[in-house]
Amino acid sequence: MKALVLSGGSGTRLRPLSYSMPKQLIPIANKPVLAHVLKNIQELGVTEIGVIVGDWAPEISDVMGDGSRCGTRVTYIKQDEPLGLAHCVELARDFLGEDDFVMYLGDNMLPDGIQEIAEEFRSARPAAQVVVHKVSDPRAFGVVEFDQDGQVERLVEKPQEPRSDLALIGVYFFTSAIHEAVGAIEPSARGELEITDAIQWLVTQGAEVRASEYGGYWKDTGKADDVLECNRHILAGLSTDIAGDIDAESEIGDQVVIAPGARVVRSRIDGPAVIGPGTVITDSHIGPFTSIGSGCALSATTVEESIVLDGAQISRIEKVHYSLIGRNATVGIGAGTPAPHHRLIVGDHTRVEVAA
Ligand code: DAU
Repeated sequence: MKALVLSGGSGTRLRPLSYSMPKQLIPIANKPVLAHVLKNIQELGVTEIGVIVGDWAPEISDVMGDGSRCGTRVTYIKQDEPLGLAHCVELARDFLGEDDFVMYLGDNMLPDGIQEIAEEFRSARPAAQVVVHKVSDPRAFGVVEFDQDGQVERLVEKPQEPRSDLALIGVYFFTSAIHEAVGAIEPSARGELEITDAIQWLVTQGAEVRASEYGGYWKDTGKADDVLECNRHILAGLSTDIAGDIDAESEIGDQVVIAPGARVVRSRIDGPAVIGPGTVITDSHIGPFTSIGSGCALSATTVEESIVLDGAQISRIEKVHYSLIGRNATVGIGAGTPAPHHRLIVGDHTRVEVAA
């Protein structure tokens, strides 16, 4: 079995962060979403991985490399425009050949793994096997109806009036039967070749299409609040690992990771929290449920339930709460700025919430 990971697309719902980085590289517990995705694929024993990339191809290949570090082989496939998930399958036709494959959306997190569902697919080999999960608002997803044996009867992409609360959650298993289906469908109203429509085509043709309900934690990390919630969930399983320097005046709680080269000075870190390499925390209170990337500087600040990306600087802020701070951003009161005062240099589509 091969894998096809979809890491193109535009990431408009994650602006402004997605202006400067692909959404699939947003860190969850200090590891890009794509790294979590690849771990799940490796757990299936799959070694041939095709990755669909758009304009962010260089950034994605810089982080993922050729896969050899993890015993896999990664082939990058360029998509010039995000023309849909089924378009990605069409582009990967040569890479996939006649092999079975797992298609995995590069912004979906399923930390509890997909091994059991992969085993079901490997033994029964239906034309398609989709992975579904109950959601509160199915209108934002592909929605699936199936009978009690798991045979799919109907799939609809983002229906206005959903007939089920079971959504497609970004993992699909296919035999080569999907290629004829992809060739048979037309672009949807939003101008994309929908994989949901291709799978519906298989159902209409009488092919065997199965659905398996995933019982673990799942999150589509397409929006800032979902990224933060997912980070919170992953950090909850953190094990303590202290490699950086902590001075005698600091206090470190349980479930804290402090990477090599990080320094904690006169501060308190409440786990779960992860502090990246080279980051310096001074006179601050970090955590719980917080990840701070590498090379950051935080001083006289409280940060809780937040993600701070590499190189960011935060100073003299009483409380940063449930926030996502981008790479090399500077937040806080500068040394020469009189307080109380807000001076903001804010990019397009940025959200700033200031409480008095
Ligand atoms: O998250 C699950 C949902 O993902 C499913 O329920 C839907 O049925 C499915 O269509 C998809 O919907 P989204 O609107 O969330 O898809 P999105 O545009 O976010 O793209 C998903 C991933 O695929 C993301 O990593 C970007 C990548 N992509 C997307 C398109 C449209 C590509 O690589 N190329 C593309 O052309």
